[in-house]
Amino acid sequence: MIKHEKLKKWVEEVALLTTPDSIYWCDGSQEEYDRMIKLMEKEGLATPLNPEKLPGCYLFRSDPSDVARVENRTYIASKTQDDAGPTNNWIEPNELKQIMKNLYKGCMKGRTMYVIPFSMGPVGSPISKIGVEISDSPYVVVNMHIMTRVGKDVLEVLGEHGEFIPCLHSVGKPLNEGESDNGKWPCAPLEHKYISHFPEERTIWSYGSGYGGNALLGKKCLALRIASVMARDEGWLAEHMLILGITNPEGKKKYIAGAFPSACGKTNLAMLIPTIPGWKVECVGDDIAWMKFGKDGRLYAINPEAGFFGVAPGTSMESNPSAMKTINRNTIYTNVALTEDGDVWWEGIGYEPPGKLIDWNGKEWIPGKSTTPAAHPNARFTTPARQCPVIDPEWENPAGVPISAFIFGGRRPTTIPLVYEAFSWNHGVFIASTIGSEVTAAALDLKAGTIRRDPMAMLPFCGYNMGDYFAHWINIQHKTTPDKLPKIFCVNWFRKSPDGKWLWPGYGENSRVLKWIFERCDGTGEALETEIGYLPPVHAIDVRGLAISNETMKELLTVDREGWLQEVELVREHYRSFGNRLPKELLIELENLEKRLKK
Ligand code: OXD
Ligand code: MN
Repeated sequence: MIKHEKLKKWVEEVALLTTPDSIYWCDGSQEEYDRMIKLMEKEGLATPLNPEKLPGCYLFRSDPSDVARVENRTYIASKTQDDAGPTNNWIEPNELKQIMKNLYKGCMKGRTMYVIPFSMGPVGSPISKIGVEISDSPYVVVNMHIMTRVGKDVLEVLGEHGEFIPCLHSVGKPLNEGESDNGKWPCAPLEHKYISHFPEERTIWSYGSGYGGNALLGKKCLALRIASVMARDEGWLAEHMLILGITNPEGKKKYIAGAFPSACGKTNLAMLIPTIPGWKVECVGDDIAWMKFGKDGRLYAINPEAGFFGVAPGTSMESNPSAMKTINRNTIYTNVALTEDGDVWWEGIGYEPPGKLIDWNGKEWIPGKSTTPAAHPNARFTTPARQCPVIDPEWENPAGVPISAFIFGGRRPTTIPLVYEAFSWNHGVFIASTIGSEVTAAALDLKAGTIRRDPMAMLPFCGYNMGDYFAHWINIQHKTTPDKLPKIFCVNWFRKSPDGKWLWPGYGENSRVLKWIFERCDGTGEALETEIGYLPPVHAIDVRGLAISNETMKELLTVDREGWLQEVELVREHYRSFGNRLPKELLIELENLEKRLKK
């Protein structure tokens, strides 16, 4: 019995518009998960993998037109365009609703409409939020089971009047009488795809895609785009950040949250195995952090998700052994390649394909002969976080974990040192607002060498005007005293020599940088005051056991004055787009940096 009238009414309204054959309320049970999988097996959408090697694992292949988040079809439909800001696509909300209602009309014909009550964050935590996703995709149901907490207890917490975020999703492929998907991933053509957010109403409407962030609405849509708006209004932070716990050999532990643009190895860092003896890193989350100040004035973070939706290509026993040990059971694979004995394979898995494969398109793929990738570069695993061998014991603590440091980074082959620390909160926000990655020409239609600025790694995920978002970051410091605020660091694992070689080995060796960050938070780490911030002297980074020359370390840790003066100009240009919404504090930081560099 559903006691929540508003929820019941919304479900009825959607059913009237979308005309599904039936309505099903999800209870989040294992039995339900298994039943959905069986259904999709029968439809030819799920392929069971070898139970000896990968028990409880299934492979899905999406439509080639539906393989990633569609940023150019993603909308922040706030009342005014100014509130969406210069970094978001905008359509007037009533106009967008009309367009989408026309698409939603009858779109679930021949399908079941699933109602999925879910909690982002531990059920009942004061930091958690409840969403209800309506979807016509059983693939969404099973993925939501892993990525969020689905079920009856969520409805209990909701009670009769509790607040929930309505998330409406359809794959946009109605079925005619007697028609079935017949092994073909259902979705709509690109021009009919819409991933829409109505921030004032706290509502999400998604149409036409069944893939990842477009369809699993708890993740990017709710936990970042809508939550960032709620966080602004309620005085907290919803960020695109990993959360890790780091313990020193004496058993002292600190938590760090880190923001990196997509494709910078966030999941790898979140699960890193330190190469320095006696140190331990444990994972709280790999993608999203929700943070509120506690009574003690410290900032506490939860991971609102319950699973990892990670990129498979490049994941190996070398790059991320903990992820490899997480995804060997109860995992959904999408768009990876299939081996002859029912195992999975992808580029960068760390070994050659064991023979002929079936590629992500379902076609035969012959090693040494086939010229296209066997797995799609954005092929994914969906896997329960609790299976991770380095999951932090506190990862589900409803009160969250206290954050000592923020780290921000991007892919920057030049200029930005391996690590440095901000002078102050405002300086840290300035640094965070300028991060980005150098892009290759092919990726984004930009000149090779151009830096795609991705402030706080939130460019595709901030649900309102980014200038206001910067102001929110500036203002939030006043919720506590400066000594309780996390320290802010910038890192760059991606420096290259002039001949194009990596200067820093990365992966587990990044623990050497985390160690210095830990020590700075502990009041013991040595630092030099420079024009750009506090930089570690070369000897302050523990490189024992690492084959790296003193020259290379110096190159990684010096201020390249010329490069920085160019950087100042580029940041000035980046800031121009925010007009008068850019907080003056950030301009002052930019001017101060320039003055220090020119002194
Ligand atoms: C993700 C992303 O999928 O950031 O997590 O793109
Ligand atoms: Mn992400």
